[in-house]
Amino acid sequence: MTPFAPAPFPALRPRRLRRDDFTRRLVREHRLSADDLIYPVFVLDGKGKRQAVPSMPGVERLSLDLLLPVAEECVALGIPVMALFPVIDAKLKDDRGSESTNARGLIPRVVRELKKRFPELGIMTDVALDPYTSHGQDGWLDKSGYVLNDETVGQLVKQALVQAAAGVDIVAPSDMMDGRIGAIRQALEAKGHIHTRIMAYSAKYASAFYGPFRDAVGSAGNLGQSDKKVYQMDPGNGDEALREVAIDLQEGADMVMVKPGMPYLDVLRRVKDAFRVPTFAYQVSGEYAMLKAAAQNGWLDHDRVVMEALLAFKRAGADGVLTYFARDAARLLRNK
Ligand code: PBG
Repeated sequence: MTPFAPAPFPALRPRRLRRDDFTRRLVREHRLSADDLIYPVFVLDGKGKRQAVPSMPGVERLSLDLLLPVAEECVALGIPVMALFPVIDAKLKDDRGSESTNARGLIPRVVRELKKRFPELGIMTDVALDPYTSHGQDGWLDKSGYVLNDETVGQLVKQALVQAAAGVDIVAPSDMMDGRIGAIRQALEAKGHIHTRIMAYSAKYASAFYGPFRDAVGSAGNLGQSDKKVYQMDPGNGDEALREVAIDLQEGADMVMVKPGMPYLDVLRRVKDAFRVPTFAYQVSGEYAMLKAAAQNGWLDHDRVVMEALLAFKRAGADGVLTYFARDAARLLRNK
């Protein structure tokens, strides 16, 4: 591995470079910057609404008026992108997630307003049906309850087009249906949305770490005891992640993602090494909840574990990280 034969001790003492902060900084291989961060937020309909998410201490669902100051802070902190996740009124949910393609729905309205007020802030939207379906799955179901692929892709294409028409910068399909990146890319091109970027959730695992997110968007109760194993990846697989990324790149993804984050750093490294394309990690809700809970108990030092975990994503090959700690991290980086 090393391209030279290391001199024997004591000529070589690796601790020399660790002795002082100035040499540690000088030889540090990876750094985290605010430029690496994407901030996921939960948005509600209405005005003046703020709801805590109990399983994600410090995270709130906000109505648009209360989200505006958050967006403003992201701009001030240099966070390049905010990712929107909708909390949909139960009355608007049905088995097909019809509300997801409503051009006057919550997400298109929020995108328009955010792009008008803060054109310099990148906005990313989730392409998936689970916040909109009465059963909490990411797709349409057949009679047996199996999640249909091609029919679901048709709905996802419409959803992505509605988001693009509202002016979103990045669409991020998180559903794991086959062929959806190609179908969305083709439709975007056909409608003249040639600048809309696609960040594909390419290697998205059927993970138990999404629990708190499902609380946040209110799909947990609908989903009940069922899981997403018939479309999200099996946690035992690594090679398959490379095939999924290859497929999404071939179909027209601009950026790819591995999700969850910390338990899947090996997958992240393999994807980055194999493809050398813009590669992102999602430090998901369960990872956030774990660190928060331990910090709240005084078992871990909050700021230090947050920064260490985020730096680890960079070392593992990530170009950026979706993290609920984005504002905390950007503030710490600014005050350092
Ligand atoms: C839904 C979606 C999920 C997350 C992002 N988009 C949950 C799921 O697949 O059930 C999880 C994010 C997180 O846990 O922070 N398509």
